[in-house]
Amino acid sequence: MSEGVEAARAILRANDRGGYTVPAARLYPFQWNWDSGLVAMGWATFDEARGWQELETLFRGQWADGLVPHIVFHAPSEDYFPGPEVWGTRGALVPTSGITQPPILASAVQAILASSEKRPAAEARAAGLYPRLLASHRWWARARDPAGTGLVASLHPWETGMDNSPSWDAPLARVPTETTTPILRRDTGHVNAAERPRGTEYQRYIHLVDLFRGLGWDARLMLAQSPFRVADIGTNAILLRAEHDLLALARRFGSPAEAAEIVARIPPAEQAIGRLWSEADGLYLSYDLTADAPIAVPTASGLLPAFAGLRPHAARLAATLAAWSEAVAWPVPSTPPSSPLFEPQRYWRGPAWPSVNWMLADGFARLGKEGAARALAASTVRMILGGDFHEYFDPRDGTGLGGADFSWSAAVRLLLAKFPRA
Ligand code: GLC
Repeated sequence: MSEGVEAARAILRANDRGGYTVPAARLYPFQWNWDSGLVAMGWATFDEARGWQELETLFRGQWADGLVPHIVFHAPSEDYFPGPEVWGTRGALVPTSGITQPPILASAVQAILASSEKRPAAEARAAGLYPRLLASHRWWARARDPAGTGLVASLHPWETGMDNSPSWDAPLARVPTETTTPILRRDTGHVNAAERPRGTEYQRYIHLVDLFRGLGWDARLMLAQSPFRVADIGTNAILLRAEHDLLALARRFGSPAEAAEIVARIPPAEQAIGRLWSEADGLYLSYDLTADAPIAVPTASGLLPAFAGLRPHAARLAATLAAWSEAVAWPVPSTPPSSPLFEPQRYWRGPAWPSVNWMLADGFARLGKEGAARALAASTVRMILGGDFHEYFDPRDGTGLGGADFSWSAAVRLLLAKFPRA
């Protein structure tokens, strides 16, 4: 039951750079937004103060307008491209990227607070973070859903956290491959190129960075002019869950007006996500905001409304999870093996990811699907241990892929300890 717990703690300690944790030593040498949410919860299982510090350090990169960047470059490193000079942002006290990532931070704060054994200290740390979280959720509403549709837009595949998901193939194909920045990939020097995004995808990623930099990172211009504009089902589900968690924090630390503001955002989000349900696929789909059409490419992201606690299709979602889990030895495949786009070793096109598995185990447990949650938690722990805490895993045989001694894999191992049998 406690197998691997010490090893997981040791990985977090080894990846600690003094107040923040790098996802992996050389592959990702800075602080990443949603990794830090998971990592903070992981730290808090054995060192609460360090868990809070992880989030406080991340928020040093928050912009005046509320954006929480996807990378905070606390200290220079030659190991990663694109570094701060390519982003050319000026929004925060420390150098940062200019795009964001799925907003899991309010959920991390609420989770650490809820299971805290150091009450007064935890209340004080959560109270300090609350205004930052509120500003970040206001940024999402204002910058990414100014029309109030209930769905927020992601403007770069990196913002979805699932960089080369096959869901982005069609929307990304509209992005030109020309870049003004010379591309000096470092990732393929650290891990096998067959496990990473392809070259043309990378050119398009950098084209978008060049475009946004040219727009001065102006949120309004970026939304209007980005050739890549999707309502990612994962991001929207995570944000909906985070709104509920932020609401709990607002009732404790905020004003009635703030709580009312958050309450008002929830039903439109629920309804808009509800419209992304695909009866034929048994899960939710992302939406291409430029083409104004659903993206008919099922991925594990479409199961994440379970993390948001959405009840209407919970039983069918659990059935889809079960079917996908039966099709592989090590669930959850990021793309189902039945899909012609399934590539079991290439990043977000097939491998199983600890981060996604944790959100699904947590979500299905809250929806009362205890059996499904516990089975997934148990297999995920075995997968992480068998694959040596790698970044992601081949769902056919559990081979660990990508970066080794990965922080969120360690954090997820610690978080899953709360599931009996895991
Ligand atoms: C990759 C992943 C992203 C993650 C980052 C750091 O870019 O796609 O989700 O946050 O690595 O681990």
